[in-house]
Amino acid sequence: MTEYKFLKPLTFEHKGITLKNRVIIPPMTERMSFEDGVVTRDEIDYYSQRAGGAGMFITGTAGVNGEAKGFEGQLSIADDKFIPRLSELAAAMKRGGTKAIVQIFSAGRMTNSKILRGKQPVSASAIAAPRPGYETPRPLSNEEILQTIKDFGEATRRAIQAGFDGVEIHGANTYLIQQFFSPHSNRRDDDWGGSLVKRMKFPLAVVNEVNSMIEEYAKTPFILGYRISPEELENPGITLDDTLALIQALKQTKIDYLHVSQGDVWQTPLRDSSSNKIVNDVIKEAIDGAFPMIVVGGIQTPEEAEATASRYDMVAIGHELLWEPKWVQKVENGDEKSIRYQLSQSDLADLGITPTMLEMIGLTTGGINNIPFTMPYHG
Ligand SMILES: Cc1cc2nc3c(=O)[nH]c(=O)nc-3n(C[C@H](O)[C@H](O)[C@H](O)COP(=O)(O)O)c2cc1C
Repeated sequence: MTEYKFLKPLTFEHKGITLKNRVIIPPMTERMSFEDGVVTRDEIDYYSQRAGGAGMFITGTAGVNGEAKGFEGQLSIADDKFIPRLSELAAAMKRGGTKAIVQIFSAGRMTNSKILRGKQPVSASAIAAPRPGYETPRPLSNEEILQTIKDFGEATRRAIQAGFDGVEIHGANTYLIQQFFSPHSNRRDDDWGGSLVKRMKFPLAVVNEVNSMIEEYAKTPFILGYRISPEELENPGITLDDTLALIQALKQTKIDYLHVSQGDVWQTPLRDSSSNKIVNDVIKEAIDGAFPMIVVGGIQTPEEAEATASRYDMVAIGHELLWEPKWVQKVENGDEKSIRYQLSQSDLADLGITPTMLEMIGLTTGGINNIPFTMPYHG
């Protein structure tokens, strides 16, 4: 049973960093932080329980500045005061040789003035998200854009100082970086919008700033990942061709991996129902070996993980790891029969799943990237 490809190590060639296996725990906001974003004991317990098995463990996304917060109880990395508790979190996640990554983001228009305590959400342009109840954001000025890019860099410095093994830039799931890339949310006619090349400018500036902070502060090799959502359903919206162009541009940067956020690893193009190509295949071809890719979406069983890992480089397992924290260890020990495949009310306390996290899981069952979520849930 240890012949599974997903249990084999993987090396990020640029930096010579080796993951002990190819199973990744994707970022999952658990809404357990204190109101200001400081890591809580509950959070450390929750992450500790899931550490040690996977090759790499990515935190729920952490806000890089005062306008970044998207959910109550979200992690923050917006100030040096967060470093001590983030260090404890990194140490808990790294137990057993798992690499600990912190995902960094700003929610942009995907938040509201209540969560921001009276402040208006910000974005590329004053266009509300096309979902019921979303507020119209305020477009960032040129100076604010430059400051936000620096905030991503400062967040990276803090991640290094807290002892994480890397950062993942959250360029997916409709948040601020994606909002700059999207022709739906970015209607600017200055240097930061208009053409495809200009829509890429903010994402690439963030990558380059993060990389320069890594070069300045990291004393040991430090991983730089980037997460994308390949397509948007809106019109106008991000097309697969736009994403392929972004990937070509990312190949000129120093990223170590690309993380493709989808609700189904075998997803075919959302905007072109006549195509039966698998989006991840199209992306793999575009990457052409420049860096490894992580795929995610609906993987639960070792057989599903193997089918995925034998085609792509790394496989992320989200929901399933919520209710089966020892998934990797059980596979390694040949104890696959005891893998838990559903969440039960009676297990919540043992699993360290708080009521706020449960609410978050409930939200995601409505769909991620507009794809309905169909795994069993018995809450
Ligand atoms: C509770 C919850 C919180 C999530 N939070 C984040 C997040 O902070 N950042 C992110 O990029 N994706 C987030 N996601 C999406 C997951 O990373 C993953 O892409 C998604 O759950 C699909 O994988 P799965 O089918 O294996 O669960 C979240 C998902 C869940 C269930």
